[in-house]
Amino acid sequence: MKGPKPAPWIGKIPAYVPGTSKDTVTERYGIKNPIKLASNENPLGPSPAALEAADAARAGMHLYPDPDALELRAAAAAFFRCRSDQIVAGNGSDEILDLLCRAYLVPGREVIIPALTFSYYRIASLVCGAEVVVSAMDGFAVDVDDIIERASEKTGIVFVANPNNPTGTCLKQADILKLVSALPPETLIVLDEAYAAFVREKGFMSAVKLIDEHSNVATIHTLSKSHGLAGLRVGFCVAGEPVISTISRIKPPFNMNIMALKAGAAALGDKEFLKQTLEVTWQGLDYLYEEVGRLGLAYVPSQTNFVLIHIGERYLRVYEELLKRGIITRAMTSFGLDGYLRVSIGLPGENEAFVRALREVL
Ligand SMILES: Cc1ncc(COP(=O)(O)O)c(C=O)c1O
Repeated sequence: MKGPKPAPWIGKIPAYVPGTSKDTVTERYGIKNPIKLASNENPLGPSPAALEAADAARAGMHLYPDPDALELRAAAAAFFRCRSDQIVAGNGSDEILDLLCRAYLVPGREVIIPALTFSYYRIASLVCGAEVVVSAMDGFAVDVDDIIERASEKTGIVFVANPNNPTGTCLKQADILKLVSALPPETLIVLDEAYAAFVREKGFMSAVKLIDEHSNVATIHTLSKSHGLAGLRVGFCVAGEPVISTISRIKPPFNMNIMALKAGAAALGDKEFLKQTLEVTWQGLDYLYEEVGRLGLAYVPSQTNFVLIHIGERYLRVYEELLKRGIITRAMTSFGLDGYLRVSIGLPGENEAFVRALREVL
């Protein structure tokens, strides 16, 4: 059917492929309580402090929320060790990615994106009519030298997830410094630190440290993973004045709802919840490494709350068989990586159920 004409570049945009939902598995296989290890959510649920703050905020839902997110940004400034005026809050970090693309891209401008990474970078860039330049990986790691080689005066934005999704690898301080010093100040370098709280590797450095010196560095953060608020949608851009004032101009005034503002601030202050989250994640990772290794499967050591496991040619059959047993993982087909499943770390019992089911179906 004929309809209104979208911008010519919209047709090129691939649809985002989310993890299979619990409802789908219940409907398809009649399983009441499937275990979802597909979207890197926090298996502990929300922090009790965040729940309490969200409950208290409900009574104010007839009023517009604070457009400046003052309380939330103050809590984020304390957490990320920066100033409040270096932060913009977003309705999830996806919204921040959209704001950056809308502000810094025009049709024809190039964006460099590593071959194996979070798919929304591509979608948000294509929406603006930008040309995506794919940077080759160095095995499972982002290749900084390759990005530098592909950069030109046409490059508007470089996206790097550090640590990276779906590989779980992270770049070291020296790599980040090399990238930042090689690219010109006109190119925006987006360092997405969605999984930074989970990093155990010693050489990791948050690029928040660089924003005072480098006005073209924008870091991205989310409370969806380490802070258990994926359903509430809280993300941040932490950057220097030029980027913050630019995206503040185009931010929808009431982009953060009152529950997200209050629960987000409370979650950032709940140190005990974060401590428990990291303990559960690290124990779960070590457990999976051992069990997956015992099954003779290779995996990519991870600095996040998920792990990439090599299953081989039968990976789609294994994925389906796990679904039938109520275990939802993520087949890496939509990321362009055949043969692999990505598995989020769950509670100990959930990780054990995954290993049992995997043993059965292999
Ligand atoms: C690397 C990375 N960045 C950003 C996001 C989006 O997070 P949010 O829930 O804050 O939109 C994700 C979600 O999976 C991610 O993996």
